[in-house]
Amino acid sequence: MTRSVRTAILLALTILATGCAIRHNTADDALYQDLGERTGIADMVEDLMYRIVEDERIAFQFKGIDVVQFHTNLTDQICEISGGPCTYTGRPMADVHDGMNVTETQFNALAEQLVLAMEENGISTSAQNRLLKRLVELHPRITHR
Ligand code: HEM
Repeated sequence: MTRSVRTAILLALTILATGCAIRHNTADDALYQDLGERTGIADMVEDLMYRIVEDERIAFQFKGIDVVQFHTNLTDQICEISGGPCTYTGRPMADVHDGMNVTETQFNALAEQLVLAMEENGISTSAQNRLLKRLVELHPRITHR
């Protein structure tokens, strides 16, 4: 193989790899971007927390929790599952909600408050639904435990 052929192959591979990387990132963090990155997510989680306190269907479950820890961990979790550059360092979902006996009604109430918090923060309906879809996957680890 001549040097120029080797150079051409190397160049082609580099372009291919760069193209893949760009496409990969764009596709992966699209939801994270649509949620307003970590700052946007942190704002909406803060609003969700105010809403939880006001919602008598679920407020009692959250009595006495460490609010700073909850805010940080839920923000990191949503950041990570939306494709953002965060790592969730909280406890596993099943362990956290173990013994709470979270009902379907309570789960739906929290989801409803999350939607309202997202509305409040100008998150598009499409992004809201994409996030809910990913959060619903956690449902079996949260309810009836
Ligand atoms: C999509 C639904 C939900 C998600 C994604 C979620 C996620 C989380 C996360 C990330 C934490 C923090 C864990 C940690 O600090 O280690 C947490 C804590 C907690 N969650 Fe949930 N949760 C959901 C639904 C619910 C529901 C419906 C309830 C009750 C009505 C609930 C009650 C709690 C409580 C009380 C804590 C604090 C536990 C503690 O600090 O000891 N969660 N949740």
